[in-house]
Amino acid sequence: MSLEVEVGQIIENKIVDISFDGKAVLKQDNLTIFTDSGVIGDVVKVEIEKLKKSYVLAKTIEIVEKSPHRIESRCEYSNVCGGCQFQDFNYDEELKLKKSKVRNDLERIGKIQDYKLYDTIGAEELDHYRNNIQMPIMKSKGKAVIGYFEKASHRIVDIDKCLIQEEIAGEIIKSLKEFIEEENVSCYNRRDNKGLLRHVIIRTSKATKETMVILVINGRDVPNLEVFVSKLMKIKEVTSLYLNVNKERTNLVTGYKYKLVFGEKKITDKIGNLEYKISPQSFFQVNTKQAEKLYEKVAEFANLSGDEVVVDLYSGIGTIGLYLADKAKEIVGVEVVERAVMDAKLNVKINNIENAKFFEGTSEKMLPVLEQVGIVPDVLVLDPPRKGCDEALLEDIVKYEPKKIVYVSCNSATLARDVKYLEENGYKVREVQPVDMFARSGHVECIALLQREIM
Ligand SMILES: C[S@@+](CC[C@H](N)C(=O)[O-])C[C@H]1O[C@@H](n2cnc3c(N)ncnc32)[C@H](O)[C@@H]1O
Repeated sequence: MSLEVEVGQIIENKIVDISFDGKAVLKQDNLTIFTDSGVIGDVVKVEIEKLKKSYVLAKTIEIVEKSPHRIESRCEYSNVCGGCQFQDFNYDEELKLKKSKVRNDLERIGKIQDYKLYDTIGAEELDHYRNNIQMPIMKSKGKAVIGYFEKASHRIVDIDKCLIQEEIAGEIIKSLKEFIEEENVSCYNRRDNKGLLRHVIIRTSKATKETMVILVINGRDVPNLEVFVSKLMKIKEVTSLYLNVNKERTNLVTGYKYKLVFGEKKITDKIGNLEYKISPQSFFQVNTKQAEKLYEKVAEFANLSGDEVVVDLYSGIGTIGLYLADKAKEIVGVEVVERAVMDAKLNVKINNIENAKFFEGTSEKMLPVLEQVGIVPDVLVLDPPRKGCDEALLEDIVKYEPKKIVYVSCNSATLARDVKYLEENGYKVREVQPVDMFARSGHVECIALLQREIM
């Protein structure tokens, strides 16, 4: 395809979408233009900067007409920071946009028709909702720079105060910057894979306020770490510090090895009436309050009578399965991360649950193993990572014929691909519920209820 524009050309048009990495999207005839700033509904003038095979990259040079959905951003970094995409956009419009993204993906990719799509369940709290942040660390002219990546770039925006992260995170980051500068600790440079400190991860429990700090390092140890430890000890919420070793040239944030420097091994959080122990390796939904709404909807879609065997694939620390345990005959969870499975087993105990068990392994390998030992799901819960389900797993699901599937997804495009396969093989998507777990960002979570048609 040849693009009929050239570098330096000025184009004026309306922004129609925002991409997941925060770029504003314009269409000009059949051409897709990604520009660095603007919100949906703005009419902008952009200058073309780079021609790619099927799209072009541009820079916004003027907002000709402001979108009616624009609001005053309360975040001082929203022009540059790629962490959020909607700080200057009306929240009700954000929720509508998320619903329409789910609809587009389901209908365009999944070819799904005749289903109920509900309005996105919004959040009451738009600030400080994240219980988990990961920030890259670098050094510029002797100064520590910690923040999120700029929109569509690997440059880091130095952030002192982020509106969506826990307030305590700002204090921890300030201490870390002081430590780096006072002790002259080196920071990672991805170009030559050199420098020690790569990322800081801060995980906080909404229920107990316990806070776990993880330093991801390109080495085995951090010199004069006791100086940072004594700074952290002064912050009462901080209950542990871990080092995570990642020496690889990779986009993955963490490596395999964790070392506890001080404090508690896990933090404890709550969803509904249940307590959950969380290790640094384990997944936990980043928005605890919205997670309860998500799980409530999963329970509503599952509509259990008490006689069902529920298999919870991609079970993490057991959150969904345990949430459903008092309504089911038996819960069986499968998760690939060893520590998360250990957490799930502990969570069964501390919540005095007697009808739940968890197994380590991939969902695609374990579903046939469960069948061999006589565990056949009546209701199947799926909650895979962004890439969705493995094809082999989908084939086995069709073979074992659970009556109902409740599919929780953080990526409606892969959800659409997977439910298309399931619809082609005897299932029907009945209801879909988007839930806003990531307010102010372009991401949207949703739950699909599928029922078996052919018995
Ligand atoms: C989106 S999280 C959902 C966790 C849990 N359901 C919850 O709500 O907290 C996906 C989980 O799947 C796990 N995972 C990734 N690939 C897997 C696979 N092939 N088989 C089983 N678990 C997998 C991840 O470690 C992670 O815990």
